[in-house]
Amino acid sequence: MATDLPDPVVPAIKRCGMRARSAVTGAPPMSLPSASGSAALVDSDSLTVDQLGGSLKTGRVVMELSGDWRQANTKIIQHYSKAWTSFDGKITLGISAYSFNLSAREVQKTGIILKQSLKKAGVSLRLIPNTDPQLNTATSHHNKLGLAPNKVELLIVRGRDGRIVVAESTGAQNITQLARRDQGRPKRDAFVGMLPPKLAQIIINLARVQPGAKPFVSDTGQDNVPRLLDPFCGTGVILQEAALMGYAVYGTDLSEKMIRYSEDNLAWLQNTYHLQVRRRLHEGDAMTTTWQHPIASVACEAYLGQPFSAPPSPEKLDQVKRNCNHIVTEFLKNIGDQIRPGTPLCIAVPAWRDAKGNVTHLPLIKNLEQLGFVQHQFTQVRPGQLLYYREDQVVARELLVLVKA
Ligand SMILES: C[S@@+](CC[C@H](N)C(=O)[O-])C[C@H]1O[C@@H](n2cnc3c(N)ncnc32)[C@H](O)[C@@H]1O
Repeated sequence: MATDLPDPVVPAIKRCGMRARSAVTGAPPMSLPSASGSAALVDSDSLTVDQLGGSLKTGRVVMELSGDWRQANTKIIQHYSKAWTSFDGKITLGISAYSFNLSAREVQKTGIILKQSLKKAGVSLRLIPNTDPQLNTATSHHNKLGLAPNKVELLIVRGRDGRIVVAESTGAQNITQLARRDQGRPKRDAFVGMLPPKLAQIIINLARVQPGAKPFVSDTGQDNVPRLLDPFCGTGVILQEAALMGYAVYGTDLSEKMIRYSEDNLAWLQNTYHLQVRRRLHEGDAMTTTWQHPIASVACEAYLGQPFSAPPSPEKLDQVKRNCNHIVTEFLKNIGDQIRPGTPLCIAVPAWRDAKGNVTHLPLIKNLEQLGFVQHQFTQVRPGQLLYYREDQVVARELLVLVKA
């Protein structure tokens, strides 16, 4: 969610996913694109926060309410006073309210009243204090909220239409594991770049194989495991995250050193996470290489040009932009001839920010159709808004979400 993300992420993606199995009301899932862009409802039985990249928390919807905070508050207290009246053991409770105009104290009050009510029934409740209306991810994660029946976080979200959804968290972003994969892997390279694993997950998810697409057999020939290609694989962050999501992975890079780094990192992942990583890696120039089939999806962070600590001169920017534009254009022409129509791609390309926040995009973005690709149209964001950067960064990553025409 927007408020407690440590760094800026694409607005459409930094949402709290919630399972919309609205067992209580039976209402169809509704979309909650609130003013702060804080939550989305998803109808799914298998939503897990560990693979959602920019999403901070997931939860299962338990109630849909109308009215204001006070009325919702009363219903929530009544519901849980009854539901937990004979709970065996101690309950840990956290409460997060999204898109309400409330103080942390007002949110906390709900928990205090509930705690008092349960105390009368002999049930013990530990309330996690709110310093903000929403618990931050670290607090939810370290208290294991949503991960056991007695560790509960209520996610109370107000939609634009005024309806209120109450969900019980099913987990918060696992910042311990994300940091482990980012910093614990044997090979890193500050010059090549440090793609955060959560951004890698976002890129992979945006290159998701479309439902109904023909299944692709992996190179092991054993089963229908889709194989994901990263043609600029570098140290292999995307390959690592894709392997954890169950893909067979295929990485190529211009640099032989990067292929060795990816291999070492994937071997580390295999040992550390006790999984079989089906992989293929080889050197190759993305502008000319012939890749082995099958390729189910393409997810990559392309060459981003040189890093800048301050906005470059217009001449320098033009030179770097032309170079990156050339590499990515030639790559798209090359891969376009080798993948089937309908193959999804998500490519992070560079975009440059000046001191006023104006953004220079790669010129090729205007020619995607001529290059044989269709750019995905999102309902909540325009394509040029899919930018990932920190406030102090000149080079942003722009996500191009494409399908081979
Ligand atoms: C921004 S880095 C990608 C880093 C990667 N996501 C990782 O996990 O480390 C871009 C990579 O593209 C590679 N590269 C640059 N030009 C290339 C080309 N023409 N073909 C293939 N790889 C290229 C570089 O060697 C570098 O590893």
